[in-house]
Amino acid sequence: MLEHGGRLRRASAVYGIALERWLDLSTGINPRPWAGEPTPLTLWHRLPEDEDGLAQTAQEYYGAPGVLPTAGSQAAILNLPRLRAPCRVGVLSPGYAEHAARWREAGHEVVPVTPAECPDAAATLDVLTLINPNNPTGHRFTRTQLLRWHGEITARGGWLIVDETFADTDPAESVAAETHREGLVVLKSLGKFFGLAGARVGFVLAAEPLREGLAERLGPWTIAGPSRAIAAGALNDRRWQNETRRRLRADATRLAALMRASGLAPSGGCELFQWVVTARASRIHERLARGGILCRLFDAPGSLRFGLPGTEEDWRRLETALPAAVDEASP
Ligand SMILES: Cc1ncc(COP(=O)(O)O)c(C=O)c1O
Repeated sequence: MLEHGGRLRRASAVYGIALERWLDLSTGINPRPWAGEPTPLTLWHRLPEDEDGLAQTAQEYYGAPGVLPTAGSQAAILNLPRLRAPCRVGVLSPGYAEHAARWREAGHEVVPVTPAECPDAAATLDVLTLINPNNPTGHRFTRTQLLRWHGEITARGGWLIVDETFADTDPAESVAAETHREGLVVLKSLGKFFGLAGARVGFVLAAEPLREGLAERLGPWTIAGPSRAIAAGALNDRRWQNETRRRLRADATRLAALMRASGLAPSGGCELFQWVVTARASRIHERLARGGILCRLFDAPGSLRFGLPGTEEDWRRLETALPAAVDEASP
């Protein structure tokens, strides 16, 4: 099993701190989620139907020619490797580790690729899997780069997969609108910007044959009816989306400033998290956790990722605890 953020129950058991006393900054999930009306009980009773309008709503929101709703982008990450015969797959590194793990598990040869190595990878490999913006480094690719690499790789019958799960806050470089092109696959999620990770809703944007192949593999009813209804509500709420984009931008600036003032200047990040490479990563992580603040620790490279605090009280708690943890962790 791969390590993931958000495992608060485990942290609670390890550090002996009650669940409700934690400040969980270990994920890049918006701490102030979209909140709509409670879902009617009939949605728990009836089988979900593909014709409920969710796909159409998502298509409009993403500006995409066609979408396949999936149980989180994770369902696509797990199943896309099963749609190809064993081949050579470049996977952005460092990056969300599930991509490499699932391609490897399905029998493919996985080649870790840094941003600088992408042009070579597009010229030589069968599949290139990128994350834009990347988690945890925050690295961003431009549309022009992505479409150039797609052109090269697809000319050989390959795929370019772009995981855009963190792109909702700033979709300017999104390639969603281009996914009618064969071999271009974009992954979306309701978990990050909308803060609805527990609903388990994501989308695959791709040309029809690939969407159909994946839908066939996933089978019927992969997303619960109430999750589908919540997702449609969130995707339709333009006012919330615009306000949230503005707020997240301001909060990201505030988090980066807080980290700089604590002696931990971010190495990268995006609107939903900040990331810092530091030799003291595990000591800072440990000291924060002993005080009930959970951030995400990475070991290659040694680094920490901080999600956004959700309330003024949470901000103040981090403003006090972080400089103290950094000081204590100094050699
Ligand atoms: C880059 C990236 N892609 C995909 C996922 C999977 O998210 P979900 O299955 O909730 O859409 C994550 C989760 O942390 C992620 O960080």
